[in-house]
Amino acid sequence: MTTRIFLFHPNPDQSRANKAMAQAAAEQGIEVRNLYALYPDGKIDVKKEQAALTATDRIVLQFPMYWYSMPSLMKEWLDQILEYGWAYGSSGDALQGKQVLLAVTQGAGAQDYTANGRFHVTTQELLKPIETIKYHTGLVFEEPFVLSGVLNLSNEKLAQEAANYVGCLQES
Ligand SMILES: Cc1cc2nc3c(=O)[nH]c(=O)nc-3n(C[C@H](O)[C@H](O)[C@H](O)COP(=O)(O)O)c2cc1C
Repeated sequence: MTTRIFLFHPNPDQSRANKAMAQAAAEQGIEVRNLYALYPDGKIDVKKEQAALTATDRIVLQFPMYWYSMPSLMKEWLDQILEYGWAYGSSGDALQGKQVLLAVTQGAGAQDYTANGRFHVTTQELLKPIETIKYHTGLVFEEPFVLSGVLNLSNEKLAQEAANYVGCLQES
């Protein structure tokens, strides 16, 4: 089973959480595809991305939460690669049965993402629009990996969470 991380972070070098997670994964031999570095001008090579997805059994979409959603390149990437006739439609079965792990980091704390919390919405609800893609594509979404409260996370706790993430990636 090939697991590949598709990392969507505009500035991985200045990142703390996503950098630690991606580095821990890379150290275990898991390939990290850094999309903002691959496409600094935002022009996505659709065929190349589709080929990378074809060669992946377990697709990890790793990203920081931006405005209760995903970074803009990730949305653009989804819009472009999920083509009719490839990802969906009567002959579009390229992604059928592939697993997807959403790995998201949040600046705010887990308690903020509860029905009665600061944002009155859960992370599960916010991820629904991405997970709903399964009905067109046959992708199989796993329980997401969510790292909240990143802004207040100690280095020790972050290292522990990065190790937990790698543990998740190594499960099949
Ligand atoms: C443009 C922007 C929007 C953000 N929106 C949210 C948000 O909606 N919810 C949240 O919890 N954190 C939000 N944050 C904080 C990031 O999610 C947080 O800094 C990131 O997950 C930390 O990961 P990093 O260390 O890899 O950058 C936002 C940050 C930026 C720059």
